[in-house]
Amino acid sequence: MVVTPWEVRGKVDYERLIREFGTQPISEELIRRMSDNTGEVHLQLRRRLFFSHRDLDTVLDLYEKGIKFVLYTGRGPSGPVHIGHLVPWIFTKYLQEKFGTRLYFQMTDDEKFVVDDQAKLADTTKMAYDNALDLIALGFKLEDTFIIYDVEDIDLLYDIALEVAKRITLSTARATFGFQDSTNLGWVFYPAVQAVPCFIHMKLTGENVPALIPAAIDQDPYWRITRDIAPKLGYFKPAQIHNRFLPGLGIGGKMSASEPDTAIFTTDDPETVKRKVWNAFTGGRGTVAEQRKLGATPDICSVYQYFLYLFEENDKKLEERERQCRTGGVFCGDCKKDLTERIVKFLSDHQKKREKARSTIGKYHIKR
Ligand code: TYM
Repeated sequence: MVVTPWEVRGKVDYERLIREFGTQPISEELIRRMSDNTGEVHLQLRRRLFFSHRDLDTVLDLYEKGIKFVLYTGRGPSGPVHIGHLVPWIFTKYLQEKFGTRLYFQMTDDEKFVVDDQAKLADTTKMAYDNALDLIALGFKLEDTFIIYDVEDIDLLYDIALEVAKRITLSTARATFGFQDSTNLGWVFYPAVQAVPCFIHMKLTGENVPALIPAAIDQDPYWRITRDIAPKLGYFKPAQIHNRFLPGLGIGGKMSASEPDTAIFTTDDPETVKRKVWNAFTGGRGTVAEQRKLGATPDICSVYQYFLYLFEENDKKLEERERQCRTGGVFCGDCKKDLTERIVKFLSDHQKKREKARSTIGKYHIKR
């Protein structure tokens, strides 16, 4: 298993990541505290898609004492957005609504340029504005959403990035990120830039409040170094809440843009979705007769995971689908057909909102 901000490979063992990264599992008690404040438990929390955290309890302690927090998350615009990226963003939107908090959203066109030898800066920058349409299409509140485009907004970020960079040694950066002698300097400096939005609220408003970062666990190494230096700069340590990876449609592995045939992009048309889902790996048997007799295995089925993560909100209906699958009452073709319909419906709506977002995108810019 390899899980870094730039590569996720092999079967991800989430228990092991909690131990190795030194994060905390999300307990029943913490879920109860969240629901005390939000009035309900979000699907992604009750299904344990968000499974780990750092200092979420501290953020709630402060919130209950009247100290707000800000949300921070982001996107590395290396290509089009896939529906795996939407998982933490959907949860972030829910937190924004329930807690009435601000969101800082970072588009890292710089990161995607320095980490890929082939990338051109003009392309990653262009993609950042394109990817922002997906964010806006999800319905984030305009008055509480501030998008940062690293290259365009570097003047706003640079002083804090320098304060951060000065306090992180090369040996810490190597130990955290595995940098080699061959790693370029842009890449080595970049983690200081990703730290900045944790602290930018103070610069903009004068308020010192913690940041809470919803993201998949691959981003955690960034927060380890940021948390170490935050108190030295007079800030709260940023808190995190980590989600699991939506798998790709193949055998194992996370959904990844580098494997386009097993990823559903938000810009895919219905025919493309149909083809990809139709070719998906499932937990089905070799023949219909065998499946009717022995049932299938939802645990290893990529199609089932899509219902679990995004496309079946009703817990009872999800349980029923699982039961039917295990007992041979439903066939892979049926699930693929249902899933295709749901994805196509979701994307058709999303794509309309995405187009509409072209006229409002400027209003979400941090420098509006
Ligand atoms: P990026 O563009 O790789 O990913 C964007 C967000 O999506 C999460 N993610 C996934 N979640 C569920 N299932 C998947 N298959 C999946 N693949 C990716 C990522 O964890 C991330 O939350 N360096 C960052 C950009 C960034 C950022 C941040 C991300 C800058 N500041 C703060 C999170 C929080 C990046 O390249 O993300």
